[in-house]
Amino acid sequence: MRIAMIGGGYVGLVSGACFAEFGNEVAVVESDPAKLAMLRGGGIPIYEPGLPELVADNARAGRLTFGNDIESAVRGAEAVFIAVGTPTRRGDGHADLTYVFAAVEQVARVLAAPTVVVTKSTVPVGTGRKIAEILCEVRPDLTIDVASNPEFLREGSAIADFMRPDRVVIGTESERARETLRALYRPLYLIEAPILFTGLETAELIKYAANSFLAMKVTFINEMADLCERAGADVHDVARGIGLDGRIGRKFLHAGPGFGGSCFPKDTLAMVRIAQDHGAPTRLVETVVAVNDARKASMAARIVAAAGGSVRGKTIAVLGLTFKPETDDMRDAPSIPIVGRLIEDGAHIRAFDPAGMDQARPLLPPGVQFCNGALEAAEGADLLVIITEWNEFRAIAPDKLGAVMKGRLIVDLRNLYDPMLMRAAGFTYASIGRP
Ligand code: UDX
Repeated sequence: MRIAMIGGGYVGLVSGACFAEFGNEVAVVESDPAKLAMLRGGGIPIYEPGLPELVADNARAGRLTFGNDIESAVRGAEAVFIAVGTPTRRGDGHADLTYVFAAVEQVARVLAAPTVVVTKSTVPVGTGRKIAEILCEVRPDLTIDVASNPEFLREGSAIADFMRPDRVVIGTESERARETLRALYRPLYLIEAPILFTGLETAELIKYAANSFLAMKVTFINEMADLCERAGADVHDVARGIGLDGRIGRKFLHAGPGFGGSCFPKDTLAMVRIAQDHGAPTRLVETVVAVNDARKASMAARIVAAAGGSVRGKTIAVLGLTFKPETDDMRDAPSIPIVGRLIEDGAHIRAFDPAGMDQARPLLPPGVQFCNGALEAAEGADLLVIITEWNEFRAIAPDKLGAVMKGRLIVDLRNLYDPMLMRAAGFTYASIGRP
């Protein structure tokens, strides 16, 4: 099958490469000239394990092409996916749909045959309906079906998530669109991935509901962690104790500095606005947003308190800057408010992240010293703070840290180490929700 993917960002690139891997011919349209030049030259603008190889293989096989011309990309395409960005609109928390509607209009103008327009970008409930109206207005002469096919890709494991999904959600009222998308996802039938057909609005809501629920789970365990600290309980055991209940499940119960990234903060905020607009406010999600914002803002104070009330003049090693491991994404990363506040309070920061340093540089205040490795960052540090749980940090032996650090204090916001072992190694070790 021939398909067009409008938008060569995270979602477009991963989905496009994976559809090509299924054997389809995929034309990716990218309007940013710098990104396009990079993609055409075999470069990948984002960090995602396995993606460079997948893109290279499929480009070499001629199944995956990159261009900026919508008309040639949609020519003969049975499905046109809209995968452009939907950032949070400045001021009101709504998703900004400017790029989505502009893409739909451009596609409609140049379509020569009936096709299905599919939204992959996360769009507010009701957007599919508006897209159908635009298509009808611009091309009353052509039958163009609309479908919503939200993505549930996690950064860092996006390819596995695409190839072995928990489910595929397809929202549409058109039988033809259902058939086209069923055929496109046919390779997943072999692994019996459930494919859920719903109405347009339902599919759009499922995406927000899934991310809001997961964000709520994370926020719940973060609050439990605070309670554990006061009550002398251990949040790891609480998470295990509740997570083994099949109705709750063990995933997304790791306490930490608060969620970040490109999706949870944006989607929870959009969910709040969508629900308010429909006169059915979600007080739970409103609280999740507020609690998480406050948590991220309070993490620096926790570090200052652990340092005895002041970090002025102290050297702090910071390990991990990205919002989570296996990505270079710094969007809404807890490290941004934490490092900002520590610098404001007069600390000297030596930072290291395995993949995110280039993205971090423009977002962190001047004065942060970027180092080439975890041990280099720890050199001469009075205290060490872990913000992101990269695997390579787990493997650092405490005596190696002890040999290079000046002080003996570790504040671990991701619970990487065993508190007993760290204490036995002579460290004062503060973690999240553990005695
Ligand atoms: C998320 C959804 O998982 C994915 O389905 C959706 O399509 C996009 O948004 P992603 O943003 O890549 O994916 O990250 P995810 O792994 O879900 O983590 C989100 C945030 O929650 C991160 O800041 C992470 O550190 C935090 N988190 C996650 C926790 O603090 N504890 C957990 O147990 C899980």
